Amino acid sequence: MRIARIVTAATLAALLTASLTACGQEARGGSRYKPKAGEGGTIGLAMPTKSSERWIADGRNMAKQFQKAGYDTDLQYGDDKVENQIAQIENMITKGRKLLVIAAIDGSALTEVLQRAEDAGIPVISYDRLIMGTENVDYYASFDNERVGELEARYIVEALKLGKPARGTGDSYNIELFAGSPDDNNTKYFWNGAMKVLKPYLDTGQLVVRSKQTRMNQATTLRWDGGTAQKRMDDLISKNYGEERVDAVLSPYDGISIGIISALKSAGYGTKSRPLPVVTGQDAELASVKSIIRGEQTQTVFKDTRKLAAQAVTMGDAVLNGRKPEVNNTTDYHNGKKIVPSFLLDPVSIDKSNTQLLVSEGYFTAGQLS
Ligand code: GAL
Repeated sequence: MRIARIVTAATLAALLTASLTACGQEARGGSRYKPKAGEGGTIGLAMPTKSSERWIADGRNMAKQFQKAGYDTDLQYGDDKVENQIAQIENMITKGRKLLVIAAIDGSALTEVLQRAEDAGIPVISYDRLIMGTENVDYYASFDNERVGELEARYIVEALKLGKPARGTGDSYNIELFAGSPDDNNTKYFWNGAMKVLKPYLDTGQLVVRSKQTRMNQATTLRWDGGTAQKRMDDLISKNYGEERVDAVLSPYDGISIGIISALKSAGYGTKSRPLPVVTGQDAELASVKSIIRGEQTQTVFKDTRKLAAQAVTMGDAVLNGRKPEVNNTTDYHNGKKIVPSFLLDPVSIDKSNTQLLVSEGYFTAGQLS
């Protein structure tokens, strides 16, 4: 009786495996990633930096959720230094981590180390930022990055009440443009999403970039560094704005927005006679949400890191158990070697009118925002 039951279960398992394989449901590497009942193992989590609150939350959320799913975790931060991150990943491979989840510092610098992961049969999930130039990345979990840029730019258009792009309206506003780190693949998605919205207004002259720095490579901010953005903004103001005022600044990240706002304040903005311009952002970091409530930064884009972590955990657990993770984009994220199957979550625009959403979603407590 007992044997019969075991045989039935074994037959069912074999049939299931066969049918999954027949449907092409196996993850890359096939049989190497078959179910290992009860064997959790350790997941390597390689995050870029602790200098930004979001990555601390990403690492913490993933560790918590992987542990809940029965795995141990090895969480490392690269201190924004590419060589640190490579050494940390090498170490994870040597220690036999079952899966790597990586938010790259430099998306194009991991080709060699990921070849070693492949040789050791370790699957890889690219987290938030796409890893470039290698076959050896299995899945990508992120937010709709182009939409992030679109939300920032639409906010500017609406805040300045530009209406539809039209020539000869007489109204023209000054804007300066900032982009993210040139070695982060997300940067061009944020930029392209924003420029799709802003370009028609630049063409009609309703928006004017007095510095003429309108190409992405003139606007990038290495490692998303707020201090670097502050220096660039100081420079833009002193060289291009005498009597003229800055009306809006496209910023792709809260840390950059803080630098921009500091430069603006040093140049005398933030008073009744010279109010701060519209300044966008991204990540809904606490300091920036507070700045929005104070009326300094104008907008940010909320990307719930708990949901992104949950997505990476679901994907990782599926891969480790020989199932194909659910994806919702198989066209847009080509890393130079292949299209990486992706799951993209929806970003949400936040300004003074809806910061309470962050409380009702449990992202911050009411006390943190007061
Ligand atoms: C990007 C990420 C943004 C922001 C930025 C700086 O890759 O998508 O949300 O966090 O890095 O850390």
